[in-house]
Amino acid sequence: MNRTHNNNELRLSNVNEIVELKGWVAKTRNLGGLIFIDLRDRYGITQVVVNPKDVKQEIYETAEKIRNEYVLYVKGKVNERESKNPHLPTGDIEIKVEKIEVISTAETTPLIIHDETDALEDTRLKYRYLDLRRPILQNNLIVKSKVMRIMRNFLSDLDFVEIETPILTKSTPEGARDYLVPSRIHPGEFYALPQSPQIFKQLCMVAGFEKYFQIARCFRDEDLRADRQPEFTQVDIETSFLTAEEIQTIIEKMFVKVMKEIKAIDIKIPFMRITYHDAMVRYGSDKPDTRFSMELVELNDVFKATTFSVFANAIKNNGYVRAINVKNGAEKYSRKEIDRLTEFVKQYQAKGLAFLKYQNHEFSGPISKFLTDNENRALKEQLNIENNDLILFIADNFNVSCEALGALRKLIAKEMNLIDDSLYNFLWVVDWPLFEYDEEESRYYALHHPFTSPNSETVKYLTTNPDRCIAQAYDIVLNGYEIGGGSIRIHQREIQDQMFETLGFSKTKANKQFGFLLDAFKYGTPPHGGIALGLDRIIMLLVNTENIRDVIAFPKTLSASCLMSEAPSEVDIKQLQELNINVKLK
Ligand code: AMO
Ligand code: AMP
Repeated sequence: MNRTHNNNELRLSNVNEIVELKGWVAKTRNLGGLIFIDLRDRYGITQVVVNPKDVKQEIYETAEKIRNEYVLYVKGKVNERESKNPHLPTGDIEIKVEKIEVISTAETTPLIIHDETDALEDTRLKYRYLDLRRPILQNNLIVKSKVMRIMRNFLSDLDFVEIETPILTKSTPEGARDYLVPSRIHPGEFYALPQSPQIFKQLCMVAGFEKYFQIARCFRDEDLRADRQPEFTQVDIETSFLTAEEIQTIIEKMFVKVMKEIKAIDIKIPFMRITYHDAMVRYGSDKPDTRFSMELVELNDVFKATTFSVFANAIKNNGYVRAINVKNGAEKYSRKEIDRLTEFVKQYQAKGLAFLKYQNHEFSGPISKFLTDNENRALKEQLNIENNDLILFIADNFNVSCEALGALRKLIAKEMNLIDDSLYNFLWVVDWPLFEYDEEESRYYALHHPFTSPNSETVKYLTTNPDRCIAQAYDIVLNGYEIGGGSIRIHQREIQDQMFETLGFSKTKANKQFGFLLDAFKYGTPPHGGIALGLDRIIMLLVNTENIRDVIAFPKTLSASCLMSEAPSEVDIKQLQELNINVKLK
């Protein structure tokens, strides 16, 4: 009972061949005695016809009982169809059944197995194995598998060694909360699941491997979003003796291959490079989407003498007035709509959203009365204002003025359909600050992680003026998504000690957490650096979905549970006793 073809293979050239097929029933119709069955497998669909005149009574009776999602074996002759289906690759032919066998029956499925499904996501996740029968999801996972193969081959050809690192390990410093695993043998002690293989890949460099990679599962207990899962996959890379640019070039060439083989697109390298500071002031984001312009414009100079108190106060307090010009936005955005945008920017800590409309050579809007002739002229020039434009302003400190307006820029681009979906804009964000100061806790945090090296010009400020330190760190961004991040690491012990000092890590604490790495650095450490690519996010962009769950076979919900297996779940009291764990019940 083997099969001769898959369900996406047969064409007119096969007419008159006797073939054997297997698959699931996607659809059956009984049209006046003729029974039509669409047979589906992961390759596609073939139409099968049972004609009461051509088959024995018992075969016809079997066919009559066939329902959706039954698994069938079919033998028959390939026939040219009378009415062809141009939407199906096999649409010119059908199989005239001679023999049919039901391999497996199926109950009515809780969701329709079709690309367009109206099933709730909860139902789809509970019956994920059925959801995964939908061609669209199968394609997503097949693309993921292909990308992994391309990347693995590419890196292996460049002499990278694939090395596995532990899953039961010690806390790593990626800044999220750890998932902990209790130790049975050591009561009261815990393993942490890796947030990334960071420390281990650096140890591989100390061990002399020079070029490491791993398709690594990472675990982070953080607030989930559309592009974040508690466990996700990184294509993790580390190299010795290479500069940041050399590492970036390897990654660029790898994406040239991926884009060519998956999308048949030739992308240009080198990718654009933009500093963190420029990304913030031009796009209001550390992961700019450059598929549309609408760049932010700083207007402190224009408004230095303004009588509009909101702007004047911001400037007086070392803040900024920034604006975007929404081309042709004056009519689309009514007063009420602008109120909605105002609420939107408040999520990003903006205190308000001022606006001007330019129509029939005149500014209108609540702040137009404050505009002097000079300001009027300068505004028009700096923002390139034309008839029917809408100007949106935010006045605030550096971060809020950039980020709130940056988020608004993206929202409006989406609402006004300004984004060309066929574009793949890769870029590098470079020259990141090494530290971030937390006002509430009055302490510095490493923006990337504590092993990232400052650049040679600013290393001297490590303990004296940390705000001036620029990191040798780089993020790779695609269409507004951060798809990877990496850095050149600190390989000198003294510099690592200074880094810990600024981060407020005592020697004892640093030793307790990362002692094995610091010890390793005593024995000859090559200069090294690397990157980790977020594989799931890359696949999301390649298959055009905004939902990371669409590219993970068995994902978790936003509340980090698996609706199918019902994890997490309570465990047997005996298991807890063995682990010496007392659970306080809610
Ligand atoms: P980072 O923390 O920037 O760097 O992670 C690298 C990339 O992984 C992806 N990513 C995620 N994808 C899905 N769900 C998540 N919860 C999630 N978190 C991160 C992002 C991100 O760019 N060890 C360093 C790398 C290095 O320095 O070499 C690291 O893990 O696309
Ligand atoms: P108000 O003076 O508070 O009535 O605000 C006048 C206009 O300025 C309103 O449209 C507010 O939304 C807007 N506004 C208030 N605060 C800010 C701010 N920080 N940046 C930009 N616009 C603001």
